[in-house]
Amino acid sequence: MSGSRRPLRLAINGYGRIGRCFLRALHEAGLDSRFQVVAINEPADLASIAYLTRFDSTHGRFPGKVEAEDDHLLIAGQAVSVTHAREPEAVDWAALEIDLVVECSGQYSDRAGISRFLAVGVPRVLLSHPANSAADVDATVVYGINHQQLTGAERIVSNASCTTNAVVPLLDLLERELGLSQVLLTTLHSVMNDQPLIDGYHHTDLRRTRSAMQSIIPVSTGLARGVERLLPSLAGKVQAKAIRVPTHNVSAIDLVLAVDKEVSASQVNRLLAEAAAGPYQGLMAYSEETHASIDFNHDPHSAVVDGSQTRKVGPRLINLLVWFDNEWGFANRMLDVTRHWQGLWSASSSPDSTLQR
Ligand SMILES: NC(=O)c1ccc[n+]([C@@H]2O[C@H](COP(=O)([O-])OP(=O)(O)OC[C@H]3O[C@@H](n4cnc5c(N)ncnc54)[C@H](OP(=O)(O)O)[C@@H]3O)[C@@H](O)[C@H]2O)c1
Repeated sequence: MSGSRRPLRLAINGYGRIGRCFLRALHEAGLDSRFQVVAINEPADLASIAYLTRFDSTHGRFPGKVEAEDDHLLIAGQAVSVTHAREPEAVDWAALEIDLVVECSGQYSDRAGISRFLAVGVPRVLLSHPANSAADVDATVVYGINHQQLTGAERIVSNASCTTNAVVPLLDLLERELGLSQVLLTTLHSVMNDQPLIDGYHHTDLRRTRSAMQSIIPVSTGLARGVERLLPSLAGKVQAKAIRVPTHNVSAIDLVLAVDKEVSASQVNRLLAEAAAGPYQGLMAYSEETHASIDFNHDPHSAVVDGSQTRKVGPRLINLLVWFDNEWGFANRMLDVTRHWQGLWSASSSPDSTLQR
């Protein structure tokens, strides 16, 4: 099935912010004939699904015609079957001949849960969040850092988190070039749909009961462990805080780094600028312009280093500011991982091993 030259058949499970961005990234990249989203499973009704595909307050109008017909969508002329189940078993994935489910509901974090898709005819699942542990997936991938370790035999891959994608390339580079003895990360993350607009109950997290638009809200995060999962040389050296801020999209990371080699702030900036112009092109960018977060809305990079905010205190303490579009950058990395992974499992195409798009 997967070895033929027919387009890859994708399904999106959970068609919220990331699910919709993934579909749109596919279309904006002009890849929709090679990688077809043939199914969406999302509890919302068809009319709302069509409406929020067409109009997006953050990313603007969809660049193509979107229509709702009977039980499916027509997106830029392609038919997309739509189901509304909360249980994977309630969808006939096998009949849809799905090659990959892009899982964007965030509801499946352990192997038993994710395997429910595999048990009902889905060959592979790409998760839009980190699994509970490394053992719950076959691989956790940050594109540009370890995607080359995929073999094509994996059935469950996690695309890590947006913040992990933003910070791991940077830390990987600085660990190699300068050595890192301690890392403190503070994420300033835009609001998400797991927060209420005004105060409301949340089943598991008191902080997520508070109005998203009225407060700066510290929330729990597994970022430090997520970074260490990708960069084992930093095990025990990373701590992180996550703070939700009342902006609709684009986030920032404030990084405090104790480095082994003595360097100046301008040397660090030069290193980052050269990496952005060289090996990390397309993945990481560098800017010294005067920015506010909105400047990075719909920016496809995993991270943009703001060189104007680099600070240094004492011989070895560096402070960096990094911007990232938590929705669009991440959705584009899911697309990159899909393309690369597909190249590996499909006998008819060769792996996409470059960072250049
Ligand atoms: N937003 C970001 O910046 C971002 C970035 C990177 C990664 N992520 C991760 O991506 C995942 C999704 O985030 P999001 O921001 O896209 O959330 P979202 O906007 O809330 O979208 C999730 C969608 O999945 C639906 N859903 C819930 N349970 C489902 C099920 N069992 N089967 C199918 N659909 C189901 C939800 O419907 P209901 O609302 O009716 O339950 C909702 O429409 C999370 O794990 C998040 O951590 C998010």
